[in-house]
Amino acid sequence: MVTVSDSELLFPRSFIPAALHERVGPDIEIRPLAESDYTRGHFQLLTVLTEAPAISPERYVERFRSMKACKDTYYTVAFIHKPTDKLVAVGTVFIERKFLRGAGVVGHIEDIAVSSSMQGRRLGLYLINSLEEIARSSGCYKVILDCSKDNIPFYEKCGFQLKEYEMALYF
Ligand code: ACO
Repeated sequence: MVTVSDSELLFPRSFIPAALHERVGPDIEIRPLAESDYTRGHFQLLTVLTEAPAISPERYVERFRSMKACKDTYYTVAFIHKPTDKLVAVGTVFIERKFLRGAGVVGHIEDIAVSSSMQGRRLGLYLINSLEEIARSSGCYKVILDCSKDNIPFYEKCGFQLKEYEMALYF
C-alpha cells in the first residue's frame, strides 16, 4: 500500500475515531479521501451505489479541491484494502449550517458504498459510525440520510430511525 501524505487528504486524519482502526481488521486502513484516490478505484466502487461514469483525472482533482476549499463542510471517509491499495468502502457526511435551532448544524450522510466482495464484514456499520462521530464533533444536533426501503434494516442496525418522507425533482 502506498502511504498517502497528510497534505493530500480532504480533512485531518484525527477526525476519524481511533477505536475504529482496530475494529475494521488489519487488512483495512481508514482515512479521509485523498486527491490521488482516483487511481484507487473510487469510481468502480461507486457503481455499487448507482451509475458512476468516471470523470477525467483533472476534473476529479478540481472537484476534490473545490470540496476541500469549503471549510468544515465535506468529510468523505475511505476504507482502503491494504494488500491491493484499492478503496473498498466510501461515504460522506456533509455539514449544513442553518439559521434555525440557534444557528444549528445538521449532518447529511451521502453516497455510502461498500464493495460487493467486502459486504457483510461490518465495514458499512463502521463507516456510518465514523461519519456519525464526525457530525457529532462538528456540533451537529442531528444526522440524516435518504435510502431505499431495502436499506432501512441496515440503517436501523446503525441506530437510525425512520422519519418523514423524501421528495425529489430531477433536472
Ligand atoms: N438488510 C438487512 N440487514 C442488513 C442489510 C440489508 N440490506 N445490509 C446490512 N444489514 C445488516 C447486517 O446483517 C449487519 O447486521 P448484524 O450487526 O446483525 O450482523 C448490519 O446490518 C451491519 O452490516 P454491514 O456488514 O456493516 O453492512 P455492509 O458492510 O454490507 O454495508 C451497505 C451495507 C452500505 C448497504 C452495502 O451493502 C452497500 O454498499 N450496498 C450497495 C450500495 C448502497 O445501497 N448504499 C447505501 C445507499 S443509501 C446512502 O448512501 C445514504
